[in-house]
Amino acid sequence: MGKIRVGIIGVGNCFAGLVQGIEYYRLNPDKKIIGIMHEKIGDYSIFDIEFTSAFDVSENKIGKSLDEAIYQSPNCVDWIQKIPKNNAIVIEAPVLDGVGVYVEKTIKPVKQTKSDEELKKNIVKEIINTRTEMLVNYLPVGSENAVRYWAEIALEANVGIINCMPVFIASGKKWAEEYEKKHLPVIGDDVKGQVGATILNRVLAKLCDDRGTAIDEMYQINIGGNTDFANMLERSRLVSKKISKTEAVQSQFRDRLNDDKIYVGPSDFLPFLGNTKICYINMKGKMFADTPFEIECKLTVDDKANSAGIVIDAVRCVKLALDRKIGGVLTSPSAYLMKHPPIQYDDTKAKEFMEKFIAGEIER
Ligand SMILES: NC(=O)c1ccc[n+]([C@@H]2O[C@H](COP(=O)([O-])OP(=O)(O)OC[C@H]3O[C@@H](n4cnc5c(N)ncnc54)[C@H](O)[C@@H]3O)[C@@H](O)[C@H]2O)c1
Repeated sequence: MGKIRVGIIGVGNCFAGLVQGIEYYRLNPDKKIIGIMHEKIGDYSIFDIEFTSAFDVSENKIGKSLDEAIYQSPNCVDWIQKIPKNNAIVIEAPVLDGVGVYVEKTIKPVKQTKSDEELKKNIVKEIINTRTEMLVNYLPVGSENAVRYWAEIALEANVGIINCMPVFIASGKKWAEEYEKKHLPVIGDDVKGQVGATILNRVLAKLCDDRGTAIDEMYQINIGGNTDFANMLERSRLVSKKISKTEAVQSQFRDRLNDDKIYVGPSDFLPFLGNTKICYINMKGKMFADTPFEIECKLTVDDKANSAGIVIDAVRCVKLALDRKIGGVLTSPSAYLMKHPPIQYDDTKAKEFMEKFIAGEIER
């Protein structure tokens, strides 16, 4: 079996966590790998993933080799102090709407000197020359135009794509059709963490629904201290993030809550929290004889550890699809691994379908 050749769009904290996590297990071969679905998916282990190309806009990262770039500010994952040399050099990407007002000073986007055409030619050439076979999109929330740009690039360079953030590619009809036509696999949209706010909230919502209670109102608020949370202070960038997070929970109720009775979203930025995310969930409802009840729940978690294993599994699923010559949206992995897939299942069913996909019993 060959290696899995992966390109990265946005060398931020999520990617730094993913790559340092793989190194952590390489250095500790006796440890059980926690946070992935199986040690092997198909024939692929986490050590079969190779990062062959990378793209960013930050003057701190462009031109650096990947092993150096992941440690540059404002990245703050430091589980492993040094990772082995990786010869992929971070290539300049166009900024478009990637950098919001609250992160501009820390990201330090470069001033574009090449023409748009030249930049695009460079990017496609890099993907092809490095034999990258899929792209992982880690662009900041609110990068609607930048995501569309990269969705086009993947089509042009003939590679699969995993969309880790909430601009709707896998769940956007037009894009899904384009990838289907070109026979390129897609998983998306917006990573659902291993035990993150979304899955916890979905399980609680499903529990209340299955047990026949009536939920009157609920909120899920989230605070964190990294660039992702700083960026999300800009409310106008949050439109699709709020849709993605809210629908992930709403989809678990047989009767939707009224829009004014549910709040799910990022809520504040506390710089000293770094990659720690704190989530509060509160649900109020009624049970038998209209008796009121309330659930209050707090989750404290490293947001990057929460997403890394999920993306590792997504990478291996896209590779399986490439090996099996399956193109278009991989609906089962998307439902299991992502918040806003084209088809929402409850998480037990999504897991069942995901296992069937891995075993080759269903196409997608
Ligand atoms: N658990 C999780 O961490 C989780 C879960 C779901 C979704 N996500 C999403 O994943 C994405 C990545 O998260 P992160 O914590 O790594 O964010 P980050 O801010 O640490 O990294 C984003 C990177 O993208 C780069 N960038 C900005 N504009 C760009 C452009 N136009 N082209 C190329 N690169 C550009 C930045 O320089 C930075 O390196 C975010 O959208 C986040 O909301 C994360």
